[in-house]
Amino acid sequence: MVESAAMATPQPLTMPLEEAMRTQRAIRRLKPDPVDDALVLHLVELALKAPTGSNAQNWEFVVVKDRAVKAALGRLNRSAGTLYLRLQRRLATRAGDTRKLRLLDAVQWQADHFAETPVVVVACLNGIVLPWPSIAAASAYGSIFPSVQNLLLAARAAGLGAALITLPLWSRFFARRALGLPWNVTPCAVIPLGWPSGRYGPTTRRPVGEVVSLDRYGNRPFRQPA
Ligand SMILES: Cc1cc2nc3c(=O)[nH]c(=O)nc-3n(C[C@H](O)[C@H](O)[C@H](O)COP(=O)(O)O)c2cc1C
Repeated sequence: MVESAAMATPQPLTMPLEEAMRTQRAIRRLKPDPVDDALVLHLVELALKAPTGSNAQNWEFVVVKDRAVKAALGRLNRSAGTLYLRLQRRLATRAGDTRKLRLLDAVQWQADHFAETPVVVVACLNGIVLPWPSIAAASAYGSIFPSVQNLLLAARAAGLGAALITLPLWSRFFARRALGLPWNVTPCAVIPLGWPSGRYGPTTRRPVGEVVSLDRYGNRPFRQPA
């Protein structure tokens, strides 16, 4: 990807924030049509409006368009995903959970077509994530995932399909090798991007009153009666 003066400046995204938030969801089935570099950079620029611990801005985004690199990430995704899919499919079939089975079909579709994804963005931390003290891991991941959510919302507002996935990162060693990352840059999230084959729509989430406590954990006065 070459940033040049000739690259058109994309239009500002005008979708109302609430609409983008309510309809942003994991879109895994993507058309192979290309996505403009300028648009991808616009999304990453909006991602960079997110906070980081001490405003360190210690992030790196690898925009992958090379088919060989996408294929390498796809192999990683598949090696972790095959076991996951087999297990989840068995559980969902046993439970008669058709919604879960549809989701697993989409996960499978993404695994089968990973190398054809137009663009894959890998959000990385410039640093290593220490498991201890606990604040280190919280600050590290807390400094990258807000930017990832910004990217997902911006993609939604632009009409692009996207999903946050981590299965390709099951081995940091192999993920670093696929992406040419140095040992001290940590890949944290993979976001395949492209024009959606399906449609966006409202997501299914737990009701707010079920997850909000007032003053002390477990005090749930906002819960609606069933
Ligand atoms: C930390 C994290 C890791 C995820 N990893 C994967 C993944 O490896 N593969 C995948 O298909 N989806 C992955 N997802 C996407 C979730 O499955 C998805 O967000 C969830 O099912 C809700 O989907 P919806 O927004 O379409 O309702 C991940 C999401 C998060 C937050």
